[in-house]
Amino acid sequence: MAKPGMNNGQTIETSSGHRGLDLAEPLIFELDAPGRCGVDLPEPSQVSSRLGGLERQAPIGLPGLSEPQVVRHFVRLSRNNFAIDAGLYPLGSCTMKHNPRLNEKLARLPGFADLHPMQPVETVQGALELIDTLADWLLTLTGMPAVAMSPAAGAHGELCGLMCIRAALEARGDAREVVLVPTSAHGTNPATAAICGYRIEEIPADDRGRVDLSALKEKLGPHVAAIMLTNPSTCGLFENQIVEIAQAVHDAGAYFYCDGANFNAIVGKVRPGDLGIDCMHLNLHKTFSTPHGGGGPGSGPVVLAEALAPFAPLPMVRRDGDGLALVEQKSEAEGTAASFGRLKGFHGQMGMFVRALAFMLSHGADGLRQASEDAVLNANYVLARLQDLLSLSFPGPCMHEALFDDGFLKDTGVSTLDFAKAMIDEGFHPMTMYFPLVVSGAMLIEPTESESKDSLDQFIASMRHLAERARRGDVDYFAGAPHLAPYRRLDETRAARHPVLRWRGDVKEAAE
Ligand SMILES: Cc1ncc(COP(=O)(O)O)c(C=O)c1O
Repeated sequence: MAKPGMNNGQTIETSSGHRGLDLAEPLIFELDAPGRCGVDLPEPSQVSSRLGGLERQAPIGLPGLSEPQVVRHFVRLSRNNFAIDAGLYPLGSCTMKHNPRLNEKLARLPGFADLHPMQPVETVQGALELIDTLADWLLTLTGMPAVAMSPAAGAHGELCGLMCIRAALEARGDAREVVLVPTSAHGTNPATAAICGYRIEEIPADDRGRVDLSALKEKLGPHVAAIMLTNPSTCGLFENQIVEIAQAVHDAGAYFYCDGANFNAIVGKVRPGDLGIDCMHLNLHKTFSTPHGGGGPGSGPVVLAEALAPFAPLPMVRRDGDGLALVEQKSEAEGTAASFGRLKGFHGQMGMFVRALAFMLSHGADGLRQASEDAVLNANYVLARLQDLLSLSFPGPCMHEALFDDGFLKDTGVSTLDFAKAMIDEGFHPMTMYFPLVVSGAMLIEPTESESKDSLDQFIASMRHLAERARRGDVDYFAGAPHLAPYRRLDETRAARHPVLRWRGDVKEAAE
């Protein structure tokens, strides 16, 4: 494989592979000098006798590097990484927003950061109070009566919600086997339903991009356990027939699961509890800031209606006299059989709880509502400034994200992927591409409330420049993009299907 920087750009090649102060970086194993070490440790004595013959017989294969080499390696890698702290990160459906430093400071307070989940409950009263306060905020903002705090991400919350629904149906002796999912749903929705043993049936969208209510009604029946509906949807639209949808679902004896990943658009504006929703997960790591990306950590509490609350997972925090207790098992009177049990080792993602509550308290209720309004305003600004050049999938206004399709690229020879790669050269992380699947060559842009008008204007100017360039038919430029990134086009299919996650010397040879 070519070294980073060696094949960048078409004009300048450097002998080092570096690009100015953008330094090329090999794998840490390629820097290995056997025997080199960052510290001088004395030869261990009497290890053999103390380990009873269990000591290692061979080196474990760590690369040998000095301390400065290690530091430089990771700093250089971090400079190759794009982050919300570096620039606009408009990934639709991901709500990549600014993470206030105050949250980080609070999460690092030793009283929170050094907690152990197995500490005696008397020593963690403050932490339980924090979980309880956060739960209270979530109930108030959603207008729901109960919440399960332990799910560790949105998808985990979906699992929690569907397990509550399944437990509730089983408790009433009602074996239903189908979950209805709109075609625009995030992949985790059907995946969760399938993991819970349900058959998935799709509901089409109408020409406004919303759930087709009559198609839904035709699908409903005594075999349907639940509908999983995202609102605002992954098309960036509010499901304005949601009350009728809830009514129809309940009339059929089914439950209404709402995917609340896009709650950022409606905090303080609409309470899901008023819409007839039975359960909904909240991605704390989206709506209430907290850093996410790279697979975690996340937090996906699930708010529940009265009918589902008894089935919520354990442990849960509960007031107990003057203090708070972590309930590990329900009492006989509460119906021990009802809870579907433990979803996770402990009570949830403490670090995320601290950050989310810090976000809420520092904004206040009015500030949270304003954040939602600004997120929607920003998305509509992008939509309004781009709709004459890009092709809008559904008429606006939109909620928190603007959805375009590849109609404007028709006959240009440029694809959505090419366009996204060219955005990297312009200094922007691409938007979400090819999702939702209901739209051809989708480009889903979610600026969030974090962006100023200046940064949106820069983004819009680049998007317009690229759209005009594509329309002029500058196919070669797009086919070669990104021209300025440390690596250019990767084989995305191979990267996804055959990721090489472990260093083995022979892999390096194979790659070369
Ligand atoms: C609409 C929607 N639902 C569910 C999820 C899953 O959430 P998580 O990534 O926290 O598991 C996402 C994540 O992007 C999403 O956008």
